Amino acid sequence: MINGPRGTKDILPDTVAQWTHVEKVIRELCARYGYREIRTPIFEHTELFLRGIGETTDVVEKEMYTFTDRGERSLTLRPENTASVVRSYLQNKLYAADALVKLFYIGSMFRYDRPQAGRYREFHQFGVEALGEENPAVDAEIIVLAVEFLRALGLQELKLHLNSVGCPKCRPVYRERLQEFFRPHLEELCTDCRSRFERNPLRLLDCKNEHCHALAEGAPRITDCLCDECRVHFTEVQSYLTAAGIPFELDANLVRGLDYYTKTAFEVKYTPLGAQSAVAGGGRYDGLVEEVGGPPTPGIGFAVGLERVLLALEKQELLPEELEAVDVFVVALGEAAQIPAFKLLHELRAAKLSAAMDFAGRSMKAQMKQANKKNARFVAILGEDEVKEASALLKDMKTSEQKKLALKDFVPALCVEVKN
Ligand code: HAM
Repeated sequence: MINGPRGTKDILPDTVAQWTHVEKVIRELCARYGYREIRTPIFEHTELFLRGIGETTDVVEKEMYTFTDRGERSLTLRPENTASVVRSYLQNKLYAADALVKLFYIGSMFRYDRPQAGRYREFHQFGVEALGEENPAVDAEIIVLAVEFLRALGLQELKLHLNSVGCPKCRPVYRERLQEFFRPHLEELCTDCRSRFERNPLRLLDCKNEHCHALAEGAPRITDCLCDECRVHFTEVQSYLTAAGIPFELDANLVRGLDYYTKTAFEVKYTPLGAQSAVAGGGRYDGLVEEVGGPPTPGIGFAVGLERVLLALEKQELLPEELEAVDVFVVALGEAAQIPAFKLLHELRAAKLSAAMDFAGRSMKAQMKQANKKNARFVAILGEDEVKEASALLKDMKTSEQKKLALKDFVPALCVEVKN
């Protein structure tokens, strides 16, 4: 037997209802906030992610599913969707229609990481991106949307962590201060952090290694090194969030795993999830459009990990349970009943009722068992006598009442019953 690859999951019929429930909330909310759906390809030119996400990030260095196609092109299964949306925005000139373009997406992403509860190699994100506006009110709108989405699902105990990661003007200054701080401790750092020290020192701040983490506690704060523009922007984002009644926690050690962020960075955590508690993450990326080859264009967005959201909903018993149910189950008894029963099944479905039938010619008892399993509201029974009289028995499974109806009246009569 061949199993699915490690880190992937089948979404089975019994759980699809949970996904459609979450997707419905997403669509309703995005319509209310004015975000329109975009669907981009699952794979892109590898170059897009190298430039967009940054070559020294863990995602690019260790986690991408990259392959060469038959035309000798290097392609990568998208590890995230912001770079793809920006590519599409430029390629399709979406900026021409609107100064501010607001988009959302739902889809699978792929990262080669060590699988564990809440971390998979194929996972699904709901994300939004707002392109073309630098006003901090847009940062706040995006953050409010992330929080309201999780609240709309019924989640409480949410923690919003907020930081500013500066811009290309002020970040080099901070980088240097950070290196000065960590330099005397270089020998004590884990191997990953030693290599991050030169290449991406901001990442030293969120190392999971206990000793590195303890050292990082005393590190200089980026918010003390922001340039005037970034500082004012950050203060305004906070004022807007306060106005919207969204509580937040300033977290100077919040650095995101992707290199494109500027100014606002945030994460929403749902602490009962433990190690993989980040359910949403995002921020501003004012340099990304240019990085991908477009004109300077501000942007901001976030993505929510849907598996993590479902885990959280399961923990809180907030998931809808949808049992399989049909309006009618058709029971056919004996050879002669098979074709009339099939005809009835077809007519019921044509009348927009959900109908099922057993095709294995089982006993009455076995077919009634099946009808129960499928939670049938009514059962139609066709035996030899009924076939001879062109009739069928209609059994109401709630009341156990039974009546005989002429086959020609059966479907209209049932439509009335189902509506009642
Ligand atoms: P990210 O923080 O890498 O950001 O991912 C966003 C969310 O996706 C995480 O908070 C987490 O819930 C979920 N996630 C990430 N990796 C996995 C995994 N291996 N298994 C399960 N869930 C996972 C981004 O992807 C950015 N594109 C977000 C963004 C949009 N920033 C601006 N616009």
